[in-house]
Amino acid sequence: MLTQSQNEAITRIEGDAPMGRLIRDHSWIPACLSRSLVADGPPRRVRLLGTDYVAFRDSEGRIGFLDEGCPHRSTSLVLARNEDCALTCIFHGWRIDATGQVVDAPTHHPNAEAFAAKVRTRAYPTVEAGGLLWVWLGADPAPPFPHLPYDDRTDRQVWITATPVDCNWLQGVEATLDTAHVGTLHRAYIERIQAKASSGTIGQALDLLAPRYDVETGPHGLDAIALRPLPDGGTYVRTTRWVAPLVSLVPGNRAANVDGTIFIVSPVDDHHHVLFFGLWSDGPDLHDGTYLDVPEAQRPLVGDRPFDPEDFGGFSGGRDDHWGQNRPAMAAGHFSGFTGNLLQEDIITQVSMGPIADRTREHLSSSDVAIIHARRLLLRALDRVADGHLPYGDERVDDHRDLTPVDMIDQPA
Ligand SMILES: [Fe+2]
Repeated sequence: MLTQSQNEAITRIEGDAPMGRLIRDHSWIPACLSRSLVADGPPRRVRLLGTDYVAFRDSEGRIGFLDEGCPHRSTSLVLARNEDCALTCIFHGWRIDATGQVVDAPTHHPNAEAFAAKVRTRAYPTVEAGGLLWVWLGADPAPPFPHLPYDDRTDRQVWITATPVDCNWLQGVEATLDTAHVGTLHRAYIERIQAKASSGTIGQALDLLAPRYDVETGPHGLDAIALRPLPDGGTYVRTTRWVAPLVSLVPGNRAANVDGTIFIVSPVDDHHHVLFFGLWSDGPDLHDGTYLDVPEAQRPLVGDRPFDPEDFGGFSGGRDDHWGQNRPAMAAGHFSGFTGNLLQEDIITQVSMGPIADRTREHLSSSDVAIIHARRLLLRALDRVADGHLPYGDERVDDHRDLTPVDMIDQPA
């Protein structure tokens, strides 16, 4: 349980909110699926920390990530034409390239060229890695991009989707630090993978709803180590690595060639986030690499919902119709009544808490210990930054490739 002011401090990210500033000044931020930007294709609006930006891929494949408004008179550049290595504003035809430089200002006479050369809009550094476009919104210069364990896998070894979620970013993060919900909320999914006789160790989460947690903090954030005793004396160990504050790397399902599960939260504004959910394989291809492909081994994950990689966990309906919960399906044995897919179950439970969960009214149980530590870590990070320190440790970590999640049976010696 938190006080109201603690809850505000760690959730609010718009404007000058300290947590928003902390994220902006200390994290590369996931912006959109890399493949959603096509050379000379439509620019897209990306909203981060309550501010709108425009992202596009120019004729040569370069990414532009700019303030949304045209530097002339603020018409949205999301409406612009994207051609000949620049955005052309539809209002007066000003052209702005991927570096933010105005390269043509046809409304100015004489010497339009000399005039244009003096005008630029802010362009932000970006990196494409692991299927995502990441942006640096903090002060110059941008620090090195801290690569994640799957960033050097091939396109076919990484499968990643996006889902817009109508609630605060921290609800998305906290769901990934609680494996205790897997056996209840996702029971139907676990039954599906077991029915395919491809159950990995994840099946063992089903019978043991209340794991014991160990938590270890490190310069990256924390590791949530869920321990479940097995009848033969061994322990099923499942460790999620939380790369504070936006990235969670969760164990996968090796029987389905999944070595890790990716949950990355993009902080849109106080009441919205985008969840990038995906899988990676260290070995065989997960899929054929096409945009709309669902790998055969991952079919149980997808459930009944038509596959939409830009809205993977989406759903129709809202609070008034219980987000489309299917009571007849529940009566017939589906535990949650959300038959779409696993992520849909996660997202609906998070959204149902409200736009910003009221953490002053909770009754946390022992399975919530990783969440408790994560909140403490964020509160401490705010204090550290206010005192002029780095948020999570005394040294900045520029490489996260060794942070693989752990999924194993520990047998007593
Ligand atoms: Fe879940």
